[in-house]
Amino acid sequence: MSETKPLPESVLISESRLQDRIRELGAQIFTDYENQELVLLGVLRGSVLFFADLARAIFRAQLADQGREVALRFEFVQLVSYHDNTKPSAVQLIHGGSDYLKQRHVLVVEDIVDTGQTLKFLHEHLQTLDPKTVKVCTLLDRPFQRQVSVAIDYTGFEIPDAFVVGYGLDHAQRYRNLPYIAVLEST
Ligand code: PRP
Repeated sequence: MSETKPLPESVLISESRLQDRIRELGAQIFTDYENQELVLLGVLRGSVLFFADLARAIFRAQLADQGREVALRFEFVQLVSYHDNTKPSAVQLIHGGSDYLKQRHVLVVEDIVDTGQTLKFLHEHLQTLDPKTVKVCTLLDRPFQRQVSVAIDYTGFEIPDAFVVGYGLDHAQRYRNLPYIAVLEST
């Protein structure tokens, strides 16, 4: 067992702020897709906690608006670009998703958009699966290192140029299970 390291101290977005904003995003997405089927397409691995809470937030919006619904289906792709480092490298497709996306409304669920290379790569890949529509929901938008222009339809928080971890985001696979977003200070 390696030496235990302290948790990152600097909380950027608290658990309650995250959950409040996700509730708002869920209500907005419910309104925009009501009475339609929607494929939530999670981008593994970083989006898992956000994906799970967003899916529940969409259902809670439905409970508050009886008679209408959004029929959700869960699908996943896996892309990697960081390779256990803090600087992005070439995007690699690990798992490409299913044929179910054909002629469906798809909402890509991301934890963070940084350079934009992952989303650009994913958009090009999704075109081969022939979806009806594709929109993007990201919890975090860090625009300072953007290399390619990408359209984002739903954003949780725009964040400053700092390396963040927690709530799905990692550094060398650590910290994904923090329930808040923190700044990793020693990178
Ligand atoms: C992270 C994050 C996004 C991507 C964003 O994934 O989850 O998918 O980087 O960066 P970009 O806009 O610069 O492309 P990562 O490659 O670290 O894999 P992970 O989701 O497994 O942590």
